[in-house]
Amino acid sequence: MNGPFQYAYDTQLNGFAWIMQPENSTLLHNFNTWMAGTHAAHWLDWFPVKEEVIKGLEQDEKAVTMVDVGGSLGHELLELKKRYPELPGRLVLQDLPETIKGVAETKVFEPAVHDFFTPQPVEGKCILSLFSHSSSSTF
Ligand SMILES: C[S@@+](CC[C@H](N)C(=O)[O-])C[C@H]1O[C@@H](n2cnc3c(N)ncnc32)[C@H](O)[C@@H]1O
Repeated sequence: MNGPFQYAYDTQLNGFAWIMQPENSTLLHNFNTWMAGTHAAHWLDWFPVKEEVIKGLEQDEKAVTMVDVGGSLGHELLELKKRYPELPGRLVLQDLPETIKGVAETKVFEPAVHDFFTPQPVEGKCILSLFSHSSSSTF
């Protein structure tokens, strides 16, 4: 791969592979903080969660309700559960190991290392959320 990013940073890595390098951990921290803080119109302000999600859900606390794929530090799942504490089932946060390492301990969701270019390990009926992704499968 050879584009402006690779030229500017003198690397053959894609942007995410580059920022996951230990020497770029400050930038990764800044990026995750920015991701959590820059959503102006939040989807939970307009998406009818009660009607579209909660209404049809099986009340099974062991079942996974939502997997946030590439969910950074889990800010979307935290906000979802804050607004809808009655949401049943488990919430799973997936991201790359370097990001998952930085996730604060919580009972709201289960953090898991997963590369979204590999098969999804969570099986069964659940919502897969993929917010704000610009990744191309041609990395
Ligand atoms: C643009 S951020 C979006 C974060 C969050 N979904 C949001 O909308 O606020 C992209 C996220 O995808 C993660 N990511 C990038 N490549 C990934 C991969 N191959 N597998 C899993 N997560 C990945 C990054 O670590 C980052 O947290």
